[in-house]
Amino acid sequence: MRNVILIGGAGYVGTVIAEELLRKSFNVTILDNFIYKNFNSIKHLQKNDHFKLINGNFSDLNKVNLEINDSTDVIILGGLVGDPITKKYPKLNKITNIDGIKKCIDFFENEMVGKLIFISTCSNYGLINQDLKADENFELKPLSLYAKAKVEIENFILNKQNKKINYEPIILRFATAFGLSPRMRFDLTVNEFTFDLLHKKVLEVYDPNTWRPYCHVKDFARIIFSVLNEEKNKLNFEIFNCGSDENNYRKKDIVELISNKITKTKVIFKSGDIDPRNYKVDFSKIKKKLKFKAKYPVSFGIDEIIENFNLFKNKNKKLFGNYEI
Ligand SMILES: NC(=O)c1ccc[n+]([C@@H]2O[C@H](COP(=O)([O-])OP(=O)(O)OC[C@H]3O[C@@H](n4cnc5c(N)ncnc54)[C@H](O)[C@@H]3O)[C@@H](O)[C@H]2O)c1
Repeated sequence: MRNVILIGGAGYVGTVIAEELLRKSFNVTILDNFIYKNFNSIKHLQKNDHFKLINGNFSDLNKVNLEINDSTDVIILGGLVGDPITKKYPKLNKITNIDGIKKCIDFFENEMVGKLIFISTCSNYGLINQDLKADENFELKPLSLYAKAKVEIENFILNKQNKKINYEPIILRFATAFGLSPRMRFDLTVNEFTFDLLHKKVLEVYDPNTWRPYCHVKDFARIIFSVLNEEKNKLNFEIFNCGSDENNYRKKDIVELISNKITKTKVIFKSGDIDPRNYKVDFSKIKKKLKFKAKYPVSFGIDEIIENFNLFKNKNKKLFGNYEI
């Protein structure tokens, strides 16, 4: 049976990947140190005999008892995720997202693992000409501490190309996620706008014409499954943008999609250069090479939140997201 270790797997994306891989009969280990006290996110997984939890820090893997054999793959998801939280804790960003992740990757250098998948972000493209779409070879212009750290780790991995390493490194640049997860985040555009409009708040949208690609968390889980199933060493040092061309949207398009479903909303559009990121992304490589086609459009994610609104109604949004640790 194949084993997968999800580093930082108790978060928004990792828990959905864990569910999918358990469904597909993998043994799944999550290593996480629960920086948001997000213990509840994995409770339902603990009933599964093929699931194992390790409460630990990925910066110090020598201290934890990871069971690794030659059918083990590793997915690195953990860290301080997002522009606001890294801006709030810049020192921790350096300790975790740069030094910690490097130590974590180096730990696996001497272990017999198969694929080592580093989850990066399309935010690395920063701000690009709106007539263009960024493919994997496009120049990276990370604007935030968060994206700068991701680019540093991508380069750290790519610099190993001439060294002898025991694993197969793969870099996946995720679009902005949306959709339901056992560890819900309402600090991500689609989820946040839907949450606020459901609560009849006046929604202030800054820089409504800025473009961004989106992808449902379940589609990320499908991508991970297909990457894990690719033939050994076929994806060595490959980089993939993860998402789909049809899910490139401006913020105002997202507002329109939600407003079609929730009536009597009040939205104020403002320009403010609060978040200067503006990029459309080209996803033809993943479509061609991994035959990936997104199954869950943005409208599906909005419907999901509307249908499950009772779970979150009148709850403090700060409980669901990367606001503080
Ligand atoms: N959510 C998105 O929109 C999005 C978009 C692009 C890329 N990504 C990438 O996907 C990955 C997962 O994102 P997410 O939304 O699930 O984030 P998240 O914040 O929900 O999850 C991150 C997890 O990492 C854990 N963690 C933090 N520091 C740790 C440490 N030192 N040791 C062990 N665990 C630690 C946290 O406790 C948390 O459970 C990240 O690498 C992120 O950069 C996410």
